[in-house]
Amino acid sequence: MMNDEAVFEKIRSDYPATKKLTYFDAGARSLVSVQTRAALDKLVDSQLYEGGDKPEMFRLIERVREKFARLINARSEEIAFMKNVSDGLNTIAGSIPFKPNDNVVLTSDLEHPNNVYPWYNVRDKSQVKIIDVPSVNGQIDVEGMINAITPSTKLVTCSTVTYSPGMRTNVPKLGKACRDRGVFFLVDGVQSCGVLRTDVEELMVDAMAVSTQKGLQGLYGMGFLYCRMEAANVLRPERLARFGVNLGDDTHEAAAGDQEFDLMPGARRFEVGNYNFPAAAAAEPALDRMLELGSAVIEERNCRLARRLASGMHQLGLEVCGDLDDPLRTHIVTVGEMDLENHESAGSGELQSLFDYLWANDVRLSIRRGVLRFGIHFYNNDQDVDRVLDLTKRWQEQAVAA
Ligand SMILES: Cc1ncc(COP(=O)(O)O)c(C=O)c1O
Repeated sequence: MMNDEAVFEKIRSDYPATKKLTYFDAGARSLVSVQTRAALDKLVDSQLYEGGDKPEMFRLIERVREKFARLINARSEEIAFMKNVSDGLNTIAGSIPFKPNDNVVLTSDLEHPNNVYPWYNVRDKSQVKIIDVPSVNGQIDVEGMINAITPSTKLVTCSTVTYSPGMRTNVPKLGKACRDRGVFFLVDGVQSCGVLRTDVEELMVDAMAVSTQKGLQGLYGMGFLYCRMEAANVLRPERLARFGVNLGDDTHEAAAGDQEFDLMPGARRFEVGNYNFPAAAAAEPALDRMLELGSAVIEERNCRLARRLASGMHQLGLEVCGDLDDPLRTHIVTVGEMDLENHESAGSGELQSLFDYLWANDVRLSIRRGVLRFGIHFYNNDQDVDRVLDLTKRWQEQAVAA
């Protein structure tokens, strides 16, 4: 029996980039494994040498749908394949029957722009009002959002974890308030799925959009939309194609029914046209690994490494966003002073110099909202954390000597 550390070291060896990089950029995209590459190769080879096997491609889609559903504690029929987060959010935005003077509650200063513009679009198309609840200390103000809900509120949206500064939102509390009031609750779950335990029943969400290249360790160009069965079944999709129409089991993909038709039950009604089969193939090995490890174990490891990094940075005198013992901390560690509009450079010249120094020493991280963002995943280990802390110390010593 291998202990946990040995299990994770073996897993790490499947990610060749860990040999040359200290990779802390899961907030942008994760590393992928050799198994991911092999799955993608297998799919392309099938088309290269055999012209492709469509029934097998459809079986792949159903396997991946079921595995993602299991990861987030949903049912397969509650999952639709999407292109990315924006596609999922816009699918819901376009399918909810908004009326003039309805309102949408959100926190524009912490959401990714891809969860802000869809609502400005709804505002301009349907004369819907936006109720914008400011963040408090870098966190979504859940109490403030609940208090902002009115009888005209049609939808509330937030991210489960913000992309910067990377704190968790108290989603279950907001979810319960929405459910009690009959308000649709949509979350952007891309910064938590795959890296942190994300259980849609516990979170009490009606819908959740994610893409696969971040915590799910897949490729760009694919995402999932979870939509709760009861919530999906009353929505008329904005866009419709064959796979959204229920022609019964085992009917050909090119079959056409009558002019009168039923929509597919659940989230499948939102799927438009053929799938991103390569990205689905690439997503499967990581889903298998996540299901095998279990989300709770993954979360525990990622958050432990993040706490170690955060407290090390704090001990070196750097400003770490959020209280060190805040239970809403995640696998993301952000360092510096937030500057909401700045993603090109660190808020201070000093931090920019640390960023450049780390990057030159093969550490990979990002700058978002003016702060250095480290995003951890389970291929990382304690040595990665120590290496970044040692480099930071060396950078400080050089600055003093200069
Ligand atoms: C919270 C969050 N939402 C959305 C996105 C991106 O959206 P999309 O997948 O539509 O490109 C990102 C990062 O790229 C993000 O961090």
